[in-house]
Amino acid sequence: MQRRTWIALALAVALPLPALAQDAVKIGLILPMTGPFASTGRQIDAAVKLYLAQNGSSVAGKKVEIILKDDASVADTTRRIAQELVVNDKVTVLAGFGLTPLALATAPIATQSKTPMVVMAAATSSITEASPYIVRTSFTLPQVTLGIAEWASKNGLKKVATLVTDYGPGIDAEKTFKERFTLNGGEVVTDVRVPLRNPDFAPFLQRVRDSGAQALFTFVPSGVGSALMKQFAERGLDKAGIRLIATGDVTDDDILNDMGEVAVGVVTSHHYSAAHKSPANQKFVEAFGKANKGMRPNFMAVGGYDGMRVILEGLKATKGAGGDALLAAMKGQVFESPRGPVLIDAQTRDIVQDVYIRKVERVNGQLYNVEIETQKSVKDPAKSK
Ligand code: PHB
Repeated sequence: MQRRTWIALALAVALPLPALAQDAVKIGLILPMTGPFASTGRQIDAAVKLYLAQNGSSVAGKKVEIILKDDASVADTTRRIAQELVVNDKVTVLAGFGLTPLALATAPIATQSKTPMVVMAAATSSITEASPYIVRTSFTLPQVTLGIAEWASKNGLKKVATLVTDYGPGIDAEKTFKERFTLNGGEVVTDVRVPLRNPDFAPFLQRVRDSGAQALFTFVPSGVGSALMKQFAERGLDKAGIRLIATGDVTDDDILNDMGEVAVGVVTSHHYSAAHKSPANQKFVEAFGKANKGMRPNFMAVGGYDGMRVILEGLKATKGAGGDALLAAMKGQVFESPRGPVLIDAQTRDIVQDVYIRKVERVNGQLYNVEIETQKSVKDPAKSK
């Protein structure tokens, strides 16, 4: 064969390749798939896969490619992975973020590269202010704490102790609870903070027991609630007549069913329960279980599922383009989530949603957060002042 023929052949083979590469929209999904917060990664990964299976994995003629990376919930790792995803893989969107420090570590990369960053899990109020490219589909601690603080006052509690994990979301929860509960005439008799890594609740619970509180208000991040509940019972706080109230992070649907009798009657406020009664949620819970060996979705899964909705509907509107156009297309989306009606507030880029007061009950032998009251369209209070 002549040299020119070779070149022509080589070109014919090589040319379609760059076109093919452009035909994918890449989403970098960074989650804790190993380590102490792996349940968050497992839930969100499953929800992302379910959304794509149900809604098709292409937009505007381009294939949606998920690049899943495990940061093991170490912030330096999250930052390095995000950098690689933006620079080497040229992702259109960064998504995931299982804990507040992991989201905060990535925010500057989103800003510098103008890459929309969808926070599907982390829930400290200030996160959305760390970059104008952040959109949140999870919740904020102030948003879900107000409800239980109101409930506590209305239900005759006067003296309450607080116990929270000592970092962003815990401090948000403690502050919001204290402010609202004392505004309504209640008294916070002791406030304890436990470390994020390897917490031993026993000494802290002893302080609560000795404080003369009628109830304990608590926040610990998803996955940690079982250990807290176990020690609450072991230390005899329930027998001493101390009531447990919490944000729904503590009675997380991923672990609730294994908590046993100590969890029954615990009242919490939160934005999602697998027991939420709506056709959209019934369909979601059923499909999620079917695709994942009977696993029950928790609020992390819903954050991931809705995050994919916001990304894919945004990409449809921009015909696959990213950057500022995609960010604009994500803002202001209104839709029916498995959790109920939601809005991505265009001003704050945070989610506005219903918050429910729930009580742990046995339903057909299984423990569920049964919704008993609804607060409609709750904004993050830190941003609605
Ligand atoms: C967070 O780190 O922001 C976080 C993690 C788990 C939760 C809530 C907040 O359940």
